[in-house]
Amino acid sequence: MIVTTAQLFKHAYGKYAVGAYNINNAEQAMGLFKGCISSQAPFIIQISKGARKYTDKKMLEAIIRAADSIFPDAIFAVHLDHGDEETCYDCINSGFYSSVMIDASHETYAKNVEISKRVVEAAHKKGISVEAELGMLGGVEEDIKVEDGHATLTNPAEAQDFVQKTGADCLACAIGTSHGAYKFKGKQSLHFNVLKDIQQLMPGYPLVMHGSSSVPQDEVARINAAGGKLGSAVGVDVNEYLPAAKLGVTKINIDTDGRLVWTRVHREFFRDKPTEFDFRPPGKIFIEEYAKFIASRNVLLGSANQLADLKQSLGK
Ligand code: G3H
Ligand code: 13P
Ligand code: ZN
Repeated sequence: MIVTTAQLFKHAYGKYAVGAYNINNAEQAMGLFKGCISSQAPFIIQISKGARKYTDKKMLEAIIRAADSIFPDAIFAVHLDHGDEETCYDCINSGFYSSVMIDASHETYAKNVEISKRVVEAAHKKGISVEAELGMLGGVEEDIKVEDGHATLTNPAEAQDFVQKTGADCLACAIGTSHGAYKFKGKQSLHFNVLKDIQQLMPGYPLVMHGSSSVPQDEVARINAAGGKLGSAVGVDVNEYLPAAKLGVTKINIDTDGRLVWTRVHREFFRDKPTEFDFRPPGKIFIEEYAKFIASRNVLLGSANQLADLKQSLGK
């Protein structure tokens, strides 16, 4: 069942975070639904602009609709990840997405407010939730690269003003993470003080953490042992997910870790079976491994075993 992110956040706030997982193809969709059903967790499917272009946006929509009918107990939101204004309108008008992210965080503050407000007005007319972003994460998104020194943490007072002016349903804050596998050079830690200050100014308001992959070191080691050449990649400490959730983070974005599972499975498979060229056997292994990974993340986020209670609170 597709619901909005606002509905999910109402149930989660202050207790747990909903995992927001990016998908690009049928194998990822199968693994994601399987993992969320086995752990009895609500979830958010994230679709990036790159994912919409990978095969075709209609292909992804069909895959998700099919998964919804294969797993009728699943409760999830369909969300555009890092949208520009034009893509947001395309998703809002599609009748399929229940949530969009307008990412104008690279614009000036005034322009970010102006663009985000326009998207909120269009989305709310159709009952669709909106995530906006304030502050700049480091790392690389599809077509925007933020150099380390230019990443800026979200200013709590500005966040309050931004939310009042735009009416966004939730806000992606920069609290020290970045996208991709290489997040921290020194000590890995989130800036909990930023979250605390925002929560004090806006109690009950849902926040979003991007760049939340943990980059498991055993995964990196296995990839490198099977021919990969990943450098010293470091991610978010998984023990910081729940403390962040208690401070109002209701959506935790994880994409890179899923890519690492895919790379490990496929590198090991073809290393061990060099004469093999049927892609289905490793594809099947990936679905199972990804499902296990997702279930393990849902436990760490506190979203595991929330499905029955959520269903009741939605009156379903
Ligand atoms: O934040 C970016 C997400 O990890 C999506 O990545 O744009 O390569 O699909 P992508
Ligand atoms: P990771 O690169 O840490 O998985 O972050 C994903 C993300 O923030 C998607 O919006
Ligand atoms: Zn992101």
